Amino acid sequence: MGDKINVAMEVIRSSDALRQRLAGFSTAGRKIGFVPTMGALHKGHISLIKHALGENDVVVASIFVNPTQFNDPKDFDRYPVSTENDIRMLDEAGCTLLFLPAPDEVYPPDAPKPVVPDLGKLDRVMEGQFRPGHFSGVAMVLERFFSLVQPHQAYFGEKDYQQLMVVKHLAALRFPDLTIRPVPTMREKDGLAMSSRNLLLTPEDRRNASFIPAFLHTLPNEMATKTPAELKATASQYFANHGIQLEYLEFADGVTLQPIHSWNDSSDPRAFIAAYAGKVRLIDNVSLNPKE
Ligand code: PAF
Repeated sequence: MGDKINVAMEVIRSSDALRQRLAGFSTAGRKIGFVPTMGALHKGHISLIKHALGENDVVVASIFVNPTQFNDPKDFDRYPVSTENDIRMLDEAGCTLLFLPAPDEVYPPDAPKPVVPDLGKLDRVMEGQFRPGHFSGVAMVLERFFSLVQPHQAYFGEKDYQQLMVVKHLAALRFPDLTIRPVPTMREKDGLAMSSRNLLLTPEDRRNASFIPAFLHTLPNEMATKTPAELKATASQYFANHGIQLEYLEFADGVTLQPIHSWNDSSDPRAFIAAYAGKVRLIDNVSLNPKE
């Protein structure tokens, strides 16, 4: 198992041991960067680690497939696990410490579950609507991890843009000394956003999935002649023609995440997509802000 692999990076499995180790870093005045993950790591995660290494003295990563954020138990069961490979990747990237807890370490059976604050309207749209309870689960696990690790900065990919906004909101309410750092989406050569779920795609679904970024790429041009409603009206058929089942296409403000009905409704419009390539649910988003 993980801790028997011969790597320089420390691998810690218990919350108590983690607390003790991190107290040492704090006493020494070290700046702590934190990269929480659910494992099945790819270059997108390594980019988070590299950003964190550039801006902190110590980088703590966690791998924990958080059951409370999966609204579909089958999705949880299918979630890819590749812990030994993950440990090697983190070590090679220069990560200082990996927290690799069992579920009871994160949610001790005798302790009350962390209470999730009101997430405003951020969790009522898009992913919040199609994956009820998902963001409460994310907030619950991060509440626990942020309290344990007490990082100065924590790193989140823009691929999960709505999650990034929810986490910023959580941090502002509960962890005012923590800075949330966004990191740009890493993409494959054909534009597909890197995701652990890509590992689950069949070769045919993988080919079809490249239509998602291709479609997003066309939007800046399309905006010149079409309204958000017009684009949404034709999108499902367009995706179906490319073997992809669109769950939603939404246009929303990049800060409030509330839907926009005209391009003038927001100075920072973004497009958001959730779609199925075969059985695999993929999400992606891009900024439609001409200044970016
Ligand atoms: O983005 C993820 O991998 C997860 O949602 C996170 C932030 C690690 C919480 O479980």
